This record gives sequence, C-alpha cells and structure tokens, in this order.
Amino acid sequence: GFVRVKVPATTANLGPGFDTIGMALELYNIVELSLLAPDELVVEVEGEGVANIPRDETNIVIKVIRQVFKKAKKNPSGFKLKLINHIPVARGLGSSAAALVGGAVAANELCGNALSDQEILEIVTDFEGHPDNVAPALFGGVVVSAQMKSEQGTEVVSRKIPPPYGLKAVVAIPDFHLATKSARSVLPAQVPFEDAVFNLSRVSMVIMAFIHNDWDLLSKMMEDRLHQPYRQALIPGMTEVFEEARQAGAIAAMLSGAGPTLIAFGLEDTQEIAEAMEKAFLRHGVNITIKELKPSP
Ligand code: HSE
Repeated sequence: GFVRVKVPATTANLGPGFDTIGMALELYNIVELSLLAPDELVVEVEGEGVANIPRDETNIVIKVIRQVFKKAKKNPSGFKLKLINHIPVARGLGSSAAALVGGAVAANELCGNALSDQEILEIVTDFEGHPDNVAPALFGGVVVSAQMKSEQGTEVVSRKIPPPYGLKAVVAIPDFHLATKSARSVLPAQVPFEDAVFNLSRVSMVIMAFIHNDWDLLSKMMEDRLHQPYRQALIPGMTEVFEEARQAGAIAAMLSGAGPTLIAFGLEDTQEIAEAMEKAFLRHGVNITIKELKPSP
C-alpha cells in the first residue's frame, strides 16, 4: 500500500485560549507512507527542516507510526516515509503536530483504519504534550480541546466550531527558531487569581465570537495574561507589532502558539496590516516572511 496525507498548519492559543483553542490554516504538509520489509527504513525530507530532521528511528513521525501499528495490533513493518514540508519548523505554526498527525493518519490507513480519529487524537497528543495544535491539524477549522490525564492514559475531549469564519490571517514569521520547550520554560508556576479570571472570561467570549462570526466581540476579547506577557521578551517588538497591526485595521493580533510567529486577523484588505507588521518587526531588527492565509476548513 501507498498512502498520501495532507495536513494543515495550525495556530494555537488564539490569544487567551492557552493550550485550549487552535485554528487550521491553508498551508499544508504532505506525508507519504508505504510499507517495506520489516528491517528496512527510508526517511526522505523535502522543504522545511530538510537539514535537521532525523532519517532514522529517532524521527518522531516514525515513532508515532510504530505506535499506531502497535495499537492496531499489526505486526511491525518497515517503512518508506516521505515528508514534504511547507510549514516552517519551530515557528509556532504546528509543524510537529502536522508531521505527527500526518504520520499517524497515514499509518492508520495502512492498517485499514483500525483506529478511530479519537484514538489518533489521543496518541498524537501524548507525543505533543498538549492538544491545541493536534486537534485542528486532524479535524480542520477551529477546535476547542481539553486534555484529561489519568492512570488509564490521556483522554482528549474536542469540539469543532464549524466554518465559515470569514477571517484572513496575516502571518508574520520571524527568521529565527523558538523551541516550544524554551517558550514554555518562561511561564510561571502560578498566576494571580485575577489573571486566571481575566482569561476565563475572554476565552469564553472568543469561542462565542467564532460560533457567531462576531468579529466586534472577537476584537475586544483577544487579550491574554497567561502566556503572552511572559513570552514577550523572547520576541523582539511583539507588543509594537500587535499595536501597529491593530492601527492598520487588524481585528486582533496574537502570538501564534508558542511563537515566534505573530498573527493578525483581518477581514478584506490585509495589505496594510502586513506592511505595518513588517515595519514594526524591522525596527527591532527582525526579518520576517509574511503569509496571508485563510482558515482551513
Ligand atoms: N499551547 C502551546 C503553547 C502551543 O503555547 O505552548 C505550542 O505548540
């Protein structure tokens, strides 16, 4: 068998929804998988990450493929895996979730879809540590998810908010990498009660805004006190990029996942927003690539 899977980039958190909400974007990785004799392994990489992605058993996509085969009770096999990557790596656009979801879905197809989407979601979330990129990479659209850990393993509950969303994302991708691990290490162990309540109210409203396509509501509710203030120091110019994107007409501006990519939402003409973000970043010595992407259904 030969299987080809297309998986979207994702932007996690969406402002106040830390580890909870994510949106799929129209930028895709392709994962191709076929079976080889049990002792053979071929890993090919094209595009983003080509210089650094391991070609052996330490590759996380190979690991998740093996996990799917194990869970589906299939005999171990050899594989030819090809990753055709368009999602920039370690930029906060869900490249690892996309690679893992692609590998897991492809492996499951080779197993005759023995596992459910829910099982795939939980296997991949275990690899990733949090579900907010994984769920929209698997289901598309905007997905709200919750991870429930117990002795039996991880349960992930997720709900998709159906499209259309009618937004355009102006995605400003800095030319430096930021590992999620480092961007999580700056987060505090405790937050003020007031900040928790601040986020609780706003993230609830953000979900309402996406359900009703209510962009006035969204524009008021995208502030965050749980992660962005602590990560600001890792992304030179972050606050100014947000401010200037909004002055140029953006509905909202936020850190994409753990960063360093920043995203602004616009409705129609987003050219001015893109220019404003680029200028603000350049003043801080950060070169960026701009992509204008629609949510992926
Ligand atoms: N919610 C995660 C974070 C996304 O902000 O750390 C990173 O992939």
